[in-house]
Amino acid sequence: MRAIAVSEYGATPALTRVPRPEPGPGEILVKLVAAGLNPLDWKVADGALKDDVDATFPLVLGLDGAGVVDEAGEGVTRLRHGEQVYGSFFGVTRGLGTYAEYTLAAEDGPVARMPEGMIYTQAAAVPTACMSALELVEAAHVDTGQTVLVVGATGGVGQAVVQLAAATGAKVIATARADMTETMRRLGASETVDHSAGDLNEQVLAAHSDGVDVVLDMVSDTARIETLARLLRPGGTYLSTTWSVNPDSMAAQEIRGINFQGKPTAALLERVSDLIDAGTLRVMIEREVPLERAPEALADNRVGGARGKTVIRI
Ligand SMILES: NC(=O)c1ccc[n+]([C@@H]2O[C@H](COP(=O)([O-])OP(=O)(O)OC[C@H]3O[C@@H](n4cnc5c(N)ncnc54)[C@H](OP(=O)(O)O)[C@@H]3O)[C@@H](O)[C@H]2O)c1
Repeated sequence: MRAIAVSEYGATPALTRVPRPEPGPGEILVKLVAAGLNPLDWKVADGALKDDVDATFPLVLGLDGAGVVDEAGEGVTRLRHGEQVYGSFFGVTRGLGTYAEYTLAAEDGPVARMPEGMIYTQAAAVPTACMSALELVEAAHVDTGQTVLVVGATGGVGQAVVQLAAATGAKVIATARADMTETMRRLGASETVDHSAGDLNEQVLAAHSDGVDVVLDMVSDTARIETLARLLRPGGTYLSTTWSVNPDSMAAQEIRGINFQGKPTAALLERVSDLIDAGTLRVMIEREVPLERAPEALADNRVGGARGKTVIRI
């Protein structure tokens, strides 16, 4: 089958041919129609997980995808042949990914039926960004009346975080360059601050002199987090998806600091499906590319400037 893979960590992702996987007991074979791009995809190719996971090479890239159940292995009962499914398919140990014609999923993994009326290219954009966003907002206990700063709000995770935080009744301040101000407002942000136009602390404090309750940060390094954390009131919460929070130093300032690690499950994805069905959550697709152009899309994501999700048509 055709796939985008790396031959070793650090190699350039390239279109290649790899054997089609066979589902074992408890697994489904999914014929993919679309894959969703996440920064984790190029991080995995770089070797970000090399100390944690034994990868198989060639390593097909891609975590998120949507397609049709092509074959169900022995003992599979939850999902059936021909069903439209989407999910997070973590296959690094077996060299499998979603930038390919087929992939495997454990029946009890983070895979679910696609939301009603959703097309494959939309569904593929959802899993990691939306599951992470839901977990982030819940881990921070975001609630009505709070003020929440979302840093990295214009990206895949950030856009979902803005919508879900706003849906709790919290006041959301989103970081956004000028071209994304209106979009952030439409997604539910009460205000925006422009991270390319001067000091963020000054911009936030100009309208909120007593600070904010929660910071949900998708981009900052440790040094920048130390600065942004000064915006939090005592008792506030700072979550980082890039593992850049120093929880001890925050505890000393009476702030809860959390390095967030998503734990995708089928139940969580089904909750995401419900939020999409209810119209509470939507994903913005910035760009669609055919499989052979996935390496170019990965290179672009590395540089930054995401305005929504990139989807790969298989
Ligand atoms: N730990 C976990 O479980 C977990 C789960 C999901 C994601 N993540 C991580 O979370 C990060 C974000 O993921 P994503 O999918 O949302 O990425 P993305 O779609 O590529 O978006 C990143 C966004 O951040 C904005 N940005 C960059 N620098 C910024 C800055 N200094 N201040 C404010 N905004 C800035 C970018 O816009 P501009 O370039 O225009 O500034 C872009 O819109 C990635 O590192 C990903 O690996 C971790």
